[in-house]
Order: sequence, then C-alpha cells, then structure tokens
Amino acid sequence: MISLRKIGKPIISLVWRLKAQKKISDLSKNSEGYTKEIGNALTEVLQNIVSEEEKQWIGKIESLRKELESSNEKIEVIDYGAIEPDSNITNQELEIGKTVNITVGAKCKSGSELFFWVFILFKLIRKFQPKSCLELGSCMGLSASFQAAALKLNGIGRMVTLEGAASLASIAKKNFQLLNLGNIDIIEGRFQDTLPTVLKQYGPFDYVFIDGHLDGPATINNFNQIIPYVSEKALFIVDNISWSESMKKGWKYIESNDRVRITFHLRQMGICIIDNQIVKKHVYKIPLL
Ligand SMILES: C[S@@+](CC[C@H](N)C(=O)[O-])C[C@H]1O[C@@H](n2cnc3c(N)ncnc32)[C@H](O)[C@@H]1O
Repeated sequence: MISLRKIGKPIISLVWRLKAQKKISDLSKNSEGYTKEIGNALTEVLQNIVSEEEKQWIGKIESLRKELESSNEKIEVIDYGAIEPDSNITNQELEIGKTVNITVGAKCKSGSELFFWVFILFKLIRKFQPKSCLELGSCMGLSASFQAAALKLNGIGRMVTLEGAASLASIAKKNFQLLNLGNIDIIEGRFQDTLPTVLKQYGPFDYVFIDGHLDGPATINNFNQIIPYVSEKALFIVDNISWSESMKKGWKYIESNDRVRITFHLRQMGICIIDNQIVKKHVYKIPLL
C-alpha cells in the first residue's frame, strides 16, 4: 500500500510550485521595470525557456559539473566559513579555517549550487545586463561560470569571484580556462583579507552574489563593506538566506537597508533591487523548490 506520507510530499511541492508559478506570471504581466524583469527571468527558468546559444553554454557547464562530480581525486580544503548552521565559530577558529580531506566529486556535490538556482542567476544576468559583477564564494567555479557565460552572451560585462580555499580556487581557475571564459578573475584568500582591495580595484558593481561564509553577522559585515561600492542601480543577491536562524536575521537586516528598495524572498535565495528612484519599498515572498 502506498503511504500517505509518500504521496503527500510530491503533492505539497506541486501545490507550492503552482502557487509560485501563478505569482511569478502575475509579476510578469502586471508589473513594470525591475519587478517585471525578475518575473520574466523566473518564468523562463520555471518553463525552461532557453535560446539555442544559451542551451549550448548550459550544456557545456553541466557536462563539466558531471565530470567533476565523478572525480575521485583527493583534495584538502580549508574552509573559512560557517561549516554548520548557527555553529558559533570563534574568530580565532575562522582565522585558521577548518581543514577537510575530501574527493573533488564529493566537494562538488556538497559545495556547488544546484542547477535550478544557477539557472536563475544566469537568466537574471541575461535580463539585467550588468557590467561589473562580484561573487563571494567560488568553490569550483560552477556558479561563476554560469554568470560569466551569461555576460559573454550579453557581449558585455566582467566578473570577479573570491574563494578562500586554495585547492578550490585552483580548480575553479582551470575550469574557467577550460570553458574559455576570459571575462572572469578569481582572487584567492579569505574574504576578510581580500574584499577591501577587490572593492577598490574592481568596484563599483551593478551585480553582487554572496554565496560564502553562511553566517548572519559575517553576511551583514560583507553587505556593509560592499554597499558603498554598489552602483546607483544594482542587483544584490544572497544565497542560503533560510539556512540558519543567523542567516535569517542577516537577510532581515539587508532587507531593511534604505538602499534596498524591492526584495524577493525565494526561500533559499534572496534578491534585492537597489535603486533610490523606487519610492515605495516592496517585499515579495515567492517560496521556490
Ligand atoms: C557554497 S560554496 C560556493 C559555491 C559556488 N558559488 C557555486 O555554486 O559554484 C561557498 C564557498 O565560499 C568559501 N568561503 C566561505 N567562507 C569564506 C571566507 N570567509 N573567505 C573566503 N572564502 C570563503 C568556501 O571555501 C566555499 O568554497
């Protein structure tokens, strides 16, 4: 006999998905400006609408992901971020980092963003056509590759991505070369050490994606450091905003910042629109996945 629990979960997720689809399609149809563009980007993701050239890039990067996931090569990774939700790591422990011995395949599976979410980033970049992009947390470079590929298709824009673990930064660099993505720089080192120089050297940014050091105070600190280097109109995206109580608080803080005018809470990912010309602050809650 099929248990209710087994059939209940897919039904609930189908209902969530349909609700999200309805909200997103309303956004595309009934709003304007940035909100409409975000609605359009999310619609294209949910309906898997891709051009032939987008399909080719997605295929190339996803094949690379498969290759990485099947690799048994052993690497040593020093993680300078929060390893577990609300883990209360001391500053001293953060300074040293936590060393993990793992295979490339296992790290790629556990550390890289799922295709669904990087597809959203790809589509956002296609719609918003940013010129200068910043990513915190490269891991093996998969999300950065999707974003840089979108910039390449746009024919404009560069990206700089930051990674603390030397072994991961080296794999990411090789991956960018393999994919022939010349529009991306990777900077190795702890965000605490590299971010101030990167902001001065590469800023201002009209697109930011934070996907590393998943701890509320660290995220707030990174946000406060980056915001003076964010252009008048920009997208500011934070991943894993529901991962822990501390990340939830971090997201609330970001949402309440005066320069953040519209936010989209997609459950895992949060998107902020920065634009002083938008008078009325607005919060959209569209839980996805
Ligand atoms: C979730 S992974 C990034 C995944 C990547 N964006 C992707 O989807 O392909 C987070 C990365 O941030 C790095 N990281 C975390 N805290 C850091 C810190 N304080 N300084 C530098 N790197 C850090 C970790 O080493 C890890 O590779």
